[in-house]
Amino acid sequence: MAVPTRARGDRTAAWRALQEAYQSSGHSFDLRDAFAADPQRFAAFSQSAPHVFADLSKNLIDAATQALLFELARQCGVEAHRDAMFAGEKINSTEQRAVLHYLLRKPAVDHTSYGQSAINSEANGLTHELAQVHATLDAMLAYAQAVRLDAAITDVVNIGIGGSDLGPQMAVLALDEFTLPGKRFHFVSNVDGHELAAVLKHLKPQNTLFLIASKTFTTAETMSNAQSVRRWFEAQGGSDIARHFAALTTNVATANAFGITTTFGFWDWVGGRYSLWSAIGLPIAIAIGEAGFRDFLAGAHAMDEHFRTAPLTQNLPVRLGLLDVWYRNFLGFSSRSIAPYHSALKRLPAYLQQLEMESNGKRVDLQGQALPFGTAPVLWGEPGTNGQHAYFQMLHQGTDVVPVEFVAVRKSTHDLPGHHDRLLANALAQAQALMVGQVDAGGHRHFPGNRPSTFLLLEELTPASLGALLALQEHRVFVSGSVWGINSFDQWGVELGKVLARDIEPRLHSGDVAGLDGSTAGLLQKLRDK
Ligand code: F6P
Repeated sequence: MAVPTRARGDRTAAWRALQEAYQSSGHSFDLRDAFAADPQRFAAFSQSAPHVFADLSKNLIDAATQALLFELARQCGVEAHRDAMFAGEKINSTEQRAVLHYLLRKPAVDHTSYGQSAINSEANGLTHELAQVHATLDAMLAYAQAVRLDAAITDVVNIGIGGSDLGPQMAVLALDEFTLPGKRFHFVSNVDGHELAAVLKHLKPQNTLFLIASKTFTTAETMSNAQSVRRWFEAQGGSDIARHFAALTTNVATANAFGITTTFGFWDWVGGRYSLWSAIGLPIAIAIGEAGFRDFLAGAHAMDEHFRTAPLTQNLPVRLGLLDVWYRNFLGFSSRSIAPYHSALKRLPAYLQQLEMESNGKRVDLQGQALPFGTAPVLWGEPGTNGQHAYFQMLHQGTDVVPVEFVAVRKSTHDLPGHHDRLLANALAQAQALMVGQVDAGGHRHFPGNRPSTFLLLEELTPASLGALLALQEHRVFVSGSVWGINSFDQWGVELGKVLARDIEPRLHSGDVAGLDGSTAGLLQKLRDK
């Protein structure tokens, strides 16, 4: 079954038209003029999607540019590429794998049918994979319920890194309001023993459940931490590994060989950074329970259906992904700041960094040809209002323009008077200040304004709305990667450092610097000096 040919963005007529339009406009687009000229601008550039309202009107874009961007998507075959993903084609071409993380959120009984597009006429329609998904999900949720009811387990420790850490950690923090009281959640990712030691000193083996989360069950950091926690557990008199350890992995055989018999599997068609919907989400399921986890999946599924079926012009992931391309490749912006105005979303920027930068931080196209344009922007950020008192100075008056993505939640879940209104007022004010500036003030008090932002608004922060927000982000990364003509689903760029670390580690003991560059050799000797 052939994966549809994709036209690389820069080779399309729409790309050239966008370049020409940008040049001939003299780069003069101004948001203040755009709002003055069009009282309907907010309505025209905002939309609802499942659980998320998005105001895109404060972006440096007009109707003509947006139309050209939609044309770019069409000419790049973004819809066919999306349909190929939903049809189960092996769109992760460098690893010859399908990309099916959306299947993890698909209900067992559903009227929508994937895998039966014109591309894939096979009759099975991914039903085998879906059955596996639900068998594992049911088992994992039953286990999560048992852990929730087990009062002796007070501490759940997730040992994992990258996608096996960032997603579950971010979601457990985000859904704290929905979390069962009486259990503490810890996330240990770093090979730095300081992190693990700081957690272990508060634990008792009889009250602790260790979740060893690793898609491959080979990642050096996770294996080191897993060995250390097992040693610690046994040294502290712990004995029942089956009760106190579970592995979340595609590599069940290696987990068994490690001595863990309680395992929850997943599949090679789930990328690590897309895995929090799978068994890797077990800490989330323990925290928020079966109903909460199913709501989380349902919110994401609603966004999947939106992405799969909404016309390009009303398709929020498509609109966000195309804006990302516009900013990166035509306006030359190289970063995006994430500003969640909800303290529970404090790990959202870190999670999005992996999602965007590991997916789209690529320098060659599908054929391995070097790209003549930029890809993934740098993502960074902190919760509002904290960021305002740190780096927002640069956003308002620095020399670089950084598009900001605000994420706000209309309803709070606390009853502390005044706080939430003040928080929301700050979010609105920052977006407003970026746009309107303070142009009549001179010198140091001058704000140029015309700085772009997107405002994503959730009604409430719930499992369902968080699921939808995350699926939205996954799909927007898909769209920009699709236009760039890259494989968003591999991550070869993380391999070299792993190989070199394996070579260097024994040299720290032996002192052998043969074949090393001068700087590495010098530093290694410095580290060995007593
Ligand atoms: O090193 C990067 C990476 O491969 C990520 O893609 C992945 O999420 C992380 O490591 C952890 O991998 P694993 O789940 O196999 O331990």
